[in-house]
Amino acid sequence: HDPSKIRNFSIIAHIDHGKSTLSDRILELTGAVSARDMQQQILDTMDIERERGITIKSQAVRVEYKADDGETYEFNLIDTPGHVDFTYEVSRSLAACEGAVLVVDATQGVEAQTVANAMMAMNADLEIVPLINKIDLPAAEPERAREQIEDGLAIPADDAVLCSAKTGVGVHDLLEAIVYNVPAPQGDVEGPLRALIFDSFFDPYRGVVALIRVVDGSIAKGDRLRMMASGTETLVEEVGARCPKEVPLDALCAGDVGYLVTGLKDVSQVKVGDTVTTASGGSHEALPGYRDVKPMVFTGLFPIEGDQFEPLKEALEKLSLNDPALIWEAEKSHALGFGFRVGFLGLLHMEVIEERLEREFGLNLLATAPSVEYHVYRSNKEMVSLHSPQELPDPSEIDRIEEPFLKVKILVPPDYVGAVMDLTVSRRGNFITMNYLSPTTVELLWEMPLGEMIMDYFDRLKSSTKGYASLDYEFAGYRESKLVKLDILLSGKPIDALSFIIHKDKAYDRGRVLTEKLKGIIPRQMFEVPIQAAVGGRVLARETIKAKRKDVLAKCYGGDISRKRKLLEKQKEGKKRMKNIGNVEVPQEAFMAILKVD
Ligand code: GTP
Repeated sequence: HDPSKIRNFSIIAHIDHGKSTLSDRILELTGAVSARDMQQQILDTMDIERERGITIKSQAVRVEYKADDGETYEFNLIDTPGHVDFTYEVSRSLAACEGAVLVVDATQGVEAQTVANAMMAMNADLEIVPLINKIDLPAAEPERAREQIEDGLAIPADDAVLCSAKTGVGVHDLLEAIVYNVPAPQGDVEGPLRALIFDSFFDPYRGVVALIRVVDGSIAKGDRLRMMASGTETLVEEVGARCPKEVPLDALCAGDVGYLVTGLKDVSQVKVGDTVTTASGGSHEALPGYRDVKPMVFTGLFPIEGDQFEPLKEALEKLSLNDPALIWEAEKSHALGFGFRVGFLGLLHMEVIEERLEREFGLNLLATAPSVEYHVYRSNKEMVSLHSPQELPDPSEIDRIEEPFLKVKILVPPDYVGAVMDLTVSRRGNFITMNYLSPTTVELLWEMPLGEMIMDYFDRLKSSTKGYASLDYEFAGYRESKLVKLDILLSGKPIDALSFIIHKDKAYDRGRVLTEKLKGIIPRQMFEVPIQAAVGGRVLARETIKAKRKDVLAKCYGGDISRKRKLLEKQKEGKKRMKNIGNVEVPQEAFMAILKVD
């Protein structure tokens, strides 16, 4: 064990700039994975990650690199998620490293999460190795990217590695730059054990496995350990390195990155960010940075078939074993029956979980429009947190309502500043400031409600800037807003699962647009269905769905059974995501229509 030959680093980038492709190339070039076995993007192990081409959970891999100086180095490469929902995992991964390779796409230049991730790496005191990727593309402008890195981020980029992760050009230069520029880990091998947990997952055969960075001391099979934040104690069943196949080792020592089999059964006992020490004679000083992750976005999930409540519960239990950020509680809706209110880190996290529930567990679900957590102060000054619009007390009992605000950073070419202003002001954004990062990139800072962000804001931002804008945000705090609950009534009855909370000044317009939209989405029934939007009993808008005129089967003359069956089957398929509410059939789109506003 020679710490001077260890290099621990992350690769950070804006989404799609090529981080995972670059990791693959590094594994290939160092011989950790033979080209023949090379499955594209080996580090993205979850199916959904592969399909969507995004990294959700971080991963760590150890490779050996024989450098031009003739020495062999141990590289620990820690892959990080690129999406803003998973920022917390990025910061934990960075805390396990001494260096970070900052990947910038030569055709896109510096984008919002390039800035956010570079800031995080600088705050963690990491040595940054800039890399300009995709130089094989005709549209590549490496010089422009270099200027943006220097002017916008204040990172010297004269020696930035020019690379194509696709063809492999420049990857060798990168590995040499890592050897020379990333510092070797420092730490006290003889001191009391301190290791940082930067990821943990549940393995059905071995219990919870943690990915750790040993900062001081060493850790071996049979040691008795204590997690400093959670207080949990456990016996080490195995330690080792992922190369990327797991290789058991006698010990992990100061400077090493590896895995630890804990035998524990619940990931919430092995929290990301927690410090591991020995149960007796251990360290008293935890490593910095432990923080509970808090869900920001909530939605109701209801099984379409009534008998799937238990399977849904079991599926959520299974998924939470691996995902401490996923929280849920049972919820009853008058309209939809029994289901769950589920909390997520953000919209992407939500989509991924919904997709996994359907795909891996075969569930057929109906999701209500996502909402945020409101703080409602009652007249007696007592505060209640709401995760669901249905829980909002009567307005007469409310003193004030506060909602979560975000600090939002948008990077955009100067031509589109006006479009961003218009859109963001219409979303109740408060403009803070604007800086030129370079002649071609403007940084705009705003504060805006999270509740507006989840209403399709990102898609609109992209479309109003021809795709040029990039976005990053963080939680800013709770602020008072004039909010009301907008109810949707079908045939005169309020449908709890369709109501949502909205700013008072927007209720009228939204009510009008929404009733019109629902008229187009809800299919005709055998009878007339009035649709109304109302706030506190006052109707703001009304539309009517006319009764169906003819039976579908009326078209089939004679006894053409097969045609009839086909027609019925087709109907059934269309019904897939419908739910009978009262006696009206409401499709899934009706719930999502609340989020899409023009
Ligand atoms: P996330 O994991 O979602 O954060 O994305 P990423 O940064 O890992 O990007 P990824 O490696 O998935 O690459 C995004 C896209 O760019 C993929 O379609 C890659 O094939 C492509 N790509 C990556 N590197 C290069 C390159 O050097 N040249 C070209 N032409 N394409 C590249």
